[in-house]
Amino acid sequence: MSFKKDFVWGAATASYQIEGAANEDGKGLSVWDVFCKTEGKVYNGDTGDTACDTYHRWPEDVALLKELGVDAYRFSLSWPRIMPTGEGEINEKGLAFYDQFIDALIEADITPYITLFHWDYPYELYKKGGWLNRDASDWFAEYTEVVTKRYGDRVKHWFTLNEPQMFTGLGYQTGKHAPGHQYGPVDIITMVHNALLAHGKAVTVIRKNVVDSEIGFAPAFYPLMPKTDDPELIEQCRLMNFDELSVDLKDHRNEFAFSQALWADPVYLGKYPEWVYVHFGEILPKSLEDDMKIISQEIDLYGVNIYQGGFFELNEQGALTPSKRKAGHAVTGFDWPVTPEALYWGPKFVYDRYQKPIFVTENGLSLKDWVSLDGQVHDPNRIDFLNRYLLQFKRAAADGVELAGYFQWSLMDNFEWESGYKQRFGLVHVDFETYKRTPKDSYFWYKTVIASNGENL
Ligand code: GCO
Repeated sequence: MSFKKDFVWGAATASYQIEGAANEDGKGLSVWDVFCKTEGKVYNGDTGDTACDTYHRWPEDVALLKELGVDAYRFSLSWPRIMPTGEGEINEKGLAFYDQFIDALIEADITPYITLFHWDYPYELYKKGGWLNRDASDWFAEYTEVVTKRYGDRVKHWFTLNEPQMFTGLGYQTGKHAPGHQYGPVDIITMVHNALLAHGKAVTVIRKNVVDSEIGFAPAFYPLMPKTDDPELIEQCRLMNFDELSVDLKDHRNEFAFSQALWADPVYLGKYPEWVYVHFGEILPKSLEDDMKIISQEIDLYGVNIYQGGFFELNEQGALTPSKRKAGHAVTGFDWPVTPEALYWGPKFVYDRYQKPIFVTENGLSLKDWVSLDGQVHDPNRIDFLNRYLLQFKRAAADGVELAGYFQWSLMDNFEWESGYKQRFGLVHVDFETYKRTPKDSYFWYKTVIASNGENL
């Protein structure tokens, strides 16, 4: 089996990473606006103040998407652009910005997939305690109400939270991302619960306001993968992927917010992993049972962002142990190891456990691309990377994993969080002085993949 006929091909971006216009037309501050102005937090002192200037240049972006031939485009809404303080007051100019953008996409025959929250949290809500505040889920539901009422006639596909592991783990456990805190486990589990509840309440609102809606959640996944096809090893890897301990094996050590099951089990299976009850039973709210019903409402897709994974083998005692990478193993601009099998094992493990169609909502790599003397951007390694990963993804389909679609990250180079503009993930090169967009070789290659529904891989 290959990619099914209605497989969705697309590209993805996020509001803070591309829009710019940080202080224009009534937009409120997000935690990222504030974080970027704090010395030493972002590479080179870069900010998202202008980013790709998409707020003004969006017609160019739509033209690039159209030429690329994508079926769909995944982008996020800036909550503080629409609700400057996060609740109450609505900024009509913010709503109007996305109106024209959505209309232009549809006009170009591109299906919009909206991510409700991709990290640019309203600063005013953060000051009220943000995700720590039990009201956080109601604030999110109110925002979801506003945007689904406005766009729900035209937008049917909605993702709630993007990589909740990262905005809690990096934002509040390691402190590398906005708002840059290092909170302890009790605060983190409180935030996790409130964010999950926000997801659930948003699902209720989307179902109410959008006829024929399709809803997904988009956690990140770093699959732990078997080095060989030994069935015992495969089973141990499977268990470890959804175990509390899995996070110990990664760079993130004991930071449990990065766990997969912590986020996905409540949403798709209606319960926390056992260790949550063991360690945090007393902290979980009294309303847990009712909350869980809201959190675990049926949704349609499993959205998952996959960039890399780690190989494991069994040692002499039969215990799982990380495989050593061979000397000179290929790495990306971020020094992330090139591990195409992550797009086989990631979807497979997730599908086996949660039984929902898999939509890879992000996959790609950063390279240090530049414009050559011939005016083109040559990025053979991006082509090879995507080719290898997509072949593994196809293998997952052949193995019976139900695949809904694939969003390449990213349409264009953009603001890469704490790395500023150093890491270029785009199919399109952006000059961050002139904002000129130059499609890279990989853009033209991906176009052929889409046109053949992956048959040319
Ligand atoms: C994510 C991030 C993206 C990053 C990308 C590369 O969802 O991980 O949201 O915004 O740019 O993952 O690091």
